[in-house]
Amino acid sequence: MNNHVEKPWGGRFSEPTDAFVEAFTASVTFDKRLYAHDIAGSIAHATMLAKVGVLTEVERDAIIDGLQAIKAEIEAGEFEWSIAREDVHMNIEARLIERIGDVGKKLHTGRSRNDQVATDIRLYLRDELAAIVNELTRLQTALVVLAEAEADTIMPGFTHLQTAQPVTFGHHLLAWFEMLKRDHGRLTDCAARLNMLPLGAAALAGTSYPIDREFSAGLLGFDGVCENSLDAVSDRDFAIEFVADAALLMMHLSRFSEELVIWASAQFNFIELGDSFCTGSSIMPQKKNPDVPELIRGKTGRVNGHLVALLTLMKGQPLAYNKDNQEDKEPLFDTVDTLRACLRVFADMIPAITPRRDNMREAARSGFSTATDLADYLVRKGVPFRDAHEVVGKAVALGVKEDCDLADMTLAQLQPFSDHIDTDVFDVLTLDGSVAARNHMGGTAPAQVRAACARARQWLQERLQERLQEN
Ligand code: ARG
Repeated sequence: MNNHVEKPWGGRFSEPTDAFVEAFTASVTFDKRLYAHDIAGSIAHATMLAKVGVLTEVERDAIIDGLQAIKAEIEAGEFEWSIAREDVHMNIEARLIERIGDVGKKLHTGRSRNDQVATDIRLYLRDELAAIVNELTRLQTALVVLAEAEADTIMPGFTHLQTAQPVTFGHHLLAWFEMLKRDHGRLTDCAARLNMLPLGAAALAGTSYPIDREFSAGLLGFDGVCENSLDAVSDRDFAIEFVADAALLMMHLSRFSEELVIWASAQFNFIELGDSFCTGSSIMPQKKNPDVPELIRGKTGRVNGHLVALLTLMKGQPLAYNKDNQEDKEPLFDTVDTLRACLRVFADMIPAITPRRDNMREAARSGFSTATDLADYLVRKGVPFRDAHEVVGKAVALGVKEDCDLADMTLAQLQPFSDHIDTDVFDVLTLDGSVAARNHMGGTAPAQVRAACARARQWLQERLQERLQEN
């Protein structure tokens, strides 16, 4: 990087920037990732300036050609980024002037880096949000496919991580689908709210040139313009909102990961994770470690941290732009990278799960998971629920003592607990009877799982249509 460059703002300065201060204040090492959005914003700005007569068409075309050539240079890896030129904006502008001469100096008319960077980040995040939502729906689709295949598979459902009642594996998987559906709503909501153009706010007060902000907004695909120039340059709500949505989504992925880790353990052995998503141990030859879900669980922490960082970054800032805002980028970029990668690997990992159906059923069978069904059975025979609860508790105590599940007890063993118990009790003590009985919207019955999968497919289809319409 070249460190001996004249500053575009050098006019009022008589001493050069301290070398360490130069590096300390520069952001180009990380904000260069905004280059494509910066160039798109500049092209729109130059086009608008020509439309309102501030630039000639010849000047506009020279600027646009120059910017496109610079984009090609960057993408070919031939662009020399300079710390002395501070950030992505001044690197590109300085290079433009090198390439096309004095006309390049006209690009920054009626604009400031303050509205420029605010525009760049919105454009960047808008693109990333589209890619993230795409990965999210890929994961949701994988979940529905697995849930459909496992609509009849019985596993223990848990509260307090203790066996509670039998549920179907498909039903359990669709709980994750519901969470991701809410995440989907939050992210698309965030994308809609951020789609307003800050450009035109200039440094903070607007500009005296006869700009046409609506025109620039249209060129860049924004739905409208930010309505107050001070707010336009200082607002980073969209970044905080995105990172908050990401933190929530990561929390969901983390909980899901935790379940995968538990289920893949030798003690549970409910699922086998695909070999390509696990690693071995360098010392213990038998190990197959669930690294991918563990890492996702771990990465959730850094996204939470980024949310706190951004909230704290903004909380003390007076209007309008302050250099503090430069610190918005690394947390935002890392959140985007982390979330995208986690969603991608999760979507790939789900189809590589092999359910161990026999083990799940066995675990549900041996955990007194139909105790509530026995109580409900007694209630149907006229026993008040609290008394029924007491009766079944005693039966379970016997089962614990004799190491025998309720479903495996004989009528002779059960009848001493209540003379309401008859041979029809075995209909409700079976796992299949138990799950099939919960046959209402939101219940775990296989029929309900299939209906929920159909609704989920319909929802995915509608979202796909929406995305196609937008493009
Ligand atoms: N690199 C700066 C940032 O990311 C660009 C805006 C600089 N504006 C200024 N007035 N120094 O925030």
